Amino acid sequence: MKTATNHLLSVLAAFLLAGITSYAADKLPDIIPQPQSLELRKGSCRVAGIQINCDDAFGEDVRGIIAAFADRLKTVCGKESTVAYPIGLRKSAEKGNVKGMVIIMNRALGQEEYVMDISAGKILIYASAAPGVLWGIRTLQQMLPPEIYRNAPAKVHLSVPCCLIQDKPRFKYRGVMLDCCRHFFSTDEIKRQLDVMSIYKCNRLHWHLSDDQGWRIEIKSRPLLTIAGAWRAEEDNPKYGGFYTEDEVRDIISYAAARGITVIPEIDLPGHMMSALTCYPELGCTGKGYEITNRWGVYKDVLCAGNEAVYAFLEDVLTEICDIFPSEYIHIGGDECPKDRWRECPKCQAKIRELGLEDTAGATKEQRLQNYVTARIQAFLAGKGRKIIGWDEILEGELSPGATVMSWRGSKGGIKAAAAGFDVIMTPNSHCYFDYAQSPQLDKEPKGITRKPERAITLEKVYSMEPCVNMDAESAKHVLGVQCNLWTEYIAANDHLEYMLLPRMIALSEVQWRPAGNRDFDAFKTSLQHHQFRILDILGVNYRKLD
Ligand code: ACM
Ligand code: ZN
Repeated sequence: MKTATNHLLSVLAAFLLAGITSYAADKLPDIIPQPQSLELRKGSCRVAGIQINCDDAFGEDVRGIIAAFADRLKTVCGKESTVAYPIGLRKSAEKGNVKGMVIIMNRALGQEEYVMDISAGKILIYASAAPGVLWGIRTLQQMLPPEIYRNAPAKVHLSVPCCLIQDKPRFKYRGVMLDCCRHFFSTDEIKRQLDVMSIYKCNRLHWHLSDDQGWRIEIKSRPLLTIAGAWRAEEDNPKYGGFYTEDEVRDIISYAAARGITVIPEIDLPGHMMSALTCYPELGCTGKGYEITNRWGVYKDVLCAGNEAVYAFLEDVLTEICDIFPSEYIHIGGDECPKDRWRECPKCQAKIRELGLEDTAGATKEQRLQNYVTARIQAFLAGKGRKIIGWDEILEGELSPGATVMSWRGSKGGIKAAAAGFDVIMTPNSHCYFDYAQSPQLDKEPKGITRKPERAITLEKVYSMEPCVNMDAESAKHVLGVQCNLWTEYIAANDHLEYMLLPRMIALSEVQWRPAGNRDFDAFKTSLQHHQFRILDILGVNYRKLD
């Protein structure tokens, strides 16, 4: 008797026998990121009003995904798509006795993997878990006319070409970092970015929530952080800023989860803490002179690593962070922490003596003190079942096993960390800093952080990125994925934010999802022009047009 696995294998075998590993650009459905493999067949399948049957072995998360898709179909075409979870669906599918859209569990597939087999009158999706189902549906949506993204009825023919798609991501971490500290963005604005991320199968929002210029998340045990720490004076506004209440954060987390996205919070420590020091000056080495301003750059005032009250503070904050965020990873920053104050501070120096830290060839004793802070917070979070991510400075000196390094000062930190056996996420400022200008013609771009034309990060540069460059195969296994970083010193408004993000994020989605090599920039640009920009127009999202 045929099992579901056998059925899948026979589908795959037929596909492999056909010898199709890629498809001609002139017939290419406008799917980005492109699936790993797609075989076009003759004919098409009507999707308007299609009946949806789903394996009852799937959980609530899949039910939510399917309900949302059925709603979308109804909104756009006006026809109801019934949704059912019949018992014995898998057996009927094995016998070929199903029609409409049928979603079947296949445990042989990876979490994010799916196989979609479309013939006239029938769309079969195989997946093992909610992410695979969701990405299959995202692909299906991209094969439909862009009007599928409308929130109103559209006079449009909803059908997709018959084909067989086998697809899974290259990297499991496909992120976007959003800095809501230098400028504040509302929850509605963040949701717009989540909507777009999900279309392109990005699955991590790294949310930068604390920095010198503002503290952005409510922490109930430390109320001053948002009463005072979330606000600063600007030339035209004596009280600029804002913060997210715990309820708002939970709402963002569940909105993201319904779109396949995990939210990873960042509390940047022990540097970039001016907003917290302004509220609680006793946590700094000098205890005074702190102020929240819109002066960008790196501040010398940081948390005092020799003061036990600092660890109590961090543990209180991180306890609440862990209560709110279910993510496996918590980002603890670690970047740009000058050691000037620690060198002069009696408490920090006493701590260095107590720990027996000394200068070595690789690191000063103050750098080793930062290693101590990192390791202590890492152990505290491990007690709560969480792992840390830190910027690549955490690698200087000694780093405890189990930490994940986010390589931002180029790729070298990531290469070194991976060679040493640490997991890494590649966000090099050569390719992934989306606050940098998109063209070397700086005078034609919005005012930004880029001073030299050669530092511009063009769409083509993003698209050409190879995250595992200069790594051996063993190191490359430690690359969890790739992320773009959107720092917002010079980005005050949401339409500017979207302009910086798009379409570069769409290019990055190809880097995040598709296997190395085998990319075609001209075909990508054609797809942007013909299809993706129409989707963004329908969503009312801003983007930079092609040159
Ligand atoms: C960073 O850009 N300071 C991580
Ligand atoms: Zn100190």
